[in-house]
Amino acid sequence: MKQPVGLTEEELRDAFAYAIEKTRANIPTFSGGWYPAPASVGNVYPRIPNNEWTSGFWNGMLWLAYLQTKDEAFRTAAENTLADYRKRLDERIATNTHDLGFLYILSAKAQYLITGNEEAKDTVLLAADLLMERYHPKAGIIQAWGNLDDPAQRGRIIIDCLMNLPLLFWATEITEDQLYRLAALSHLDRTRETIIREDDTTFHTFYFDTKSGKPLRGTTHQGYSDGSCWARGQAWGIYGLALAYGYTGDPGCLTDAKRLANYFLDHLPEDGVCYWDLIFTQGSEERDSSAATIAVQGLHLLASHLDDDSDRQRYAHQADLILSSLVRGYTTRTVPESNGILLHAVYHKPNGIGVDECNIWGDYFYMEALGMKLHSAMTFW
Ligand code: GLY
Repeated sequence: MKQPVGLTEEELRDAFAYAIEKTRANIPTFSGGWYPAPASVGNVYPRIPNNEWTSGFWNGMLWLAYLQTKDEAFRTAAENTLADYRKRLDERIATNTHDLGFLYILSAKAQYLITGNEEAKDTVLLAADLLMERYHPKAGIIQAWGNLDDPAQRGRIIIDCLMNLPLLFWATEITEDQLYRLAALSHLDRTRETIIREDDTTFHTFYFDTKSGKPLRGTTHQGYSDGSCWARGQAWGIYGLALAYGYTGDPGCLTDAKRLANYFLDHLPEDGVCYWDLIFTQGSEERDSSAATIAVQGLHLLASHLDDDSDRQRYAHQADLILSSLVRGYTTRTVPESNGILLHAVYHKPNGIGVDECNIWGDYFYMEALGMKLHSAMTFW
């Protein structure tokens, strides 16, 4: 990576202000039970009900905008969704997923952290209970998708789940019930043993036999091939392991996060924004700016955990370079009709969904990255 250079404080403030104003402009569209779809269509997010794994990113954006501006419009818009999130749990609306962490950390948990609302806290804990229902004790893993008896999904984990484990770690902190933490620790260990490959790449998904607990095989779902390295999966891994270190203090998490980070950084094109799969380092395949934003946050958190000055500076510097590339070359400033923030993300290339579009988690992590650069406290994980 050569081209980008770091951002000035003025550029950071300007980029954050742009993202906040985009978020403000979207409030009328995404309120009253409506949320942005996971990916835009023609760079415009359609609106959908609260039935996807991604609704929480919209809440997270509202809360980041509120923290920055203290404008009640953002707070009210976010608070108005709590009943939706509670209903989703009560009525089990698309809750057969491990993504309860993404959903409830950035919505109800953020609300509780910022406002102290007890109903929000209870909602987070209910979500943690539901996530625990997905735990297969013999294998010691949390199943990613689908019903627990679905033969196509039974015993399948995915690397993305590292980002959902903070829901369980936090539930133990709040309730002092160790079961949440023990499940998270077991899932973390099984993921590190199976999903991380010897060459420091990662499988997207891995199957276990839930009766014997035996690890079976790694496959991809959104990557180029079973043996390639899906860029967003690697980025989820970097950030998820850095977060896990914060909750566990296990130095192995840092070692693994560094392995994944080094591979990621060694497979970037010149401007530092990864292709959708790290098998590509040049050419006309699409970039995944959303993976880049997640990596920025993972690299910064990893850097903050390190004692060694040179490693700390290297990861933080690389994260800054990627962020500067995103700010200068990937935003919707060039596409004024867009209601998104960050262009050129890929949701699911093999299925042709959200390819070269805005992705709502890309917008969220971009805001999180800008917020963290300006005020180190802007995180809900
Ligand atoms: N967690 C789903 C994705 O990254 O597409």
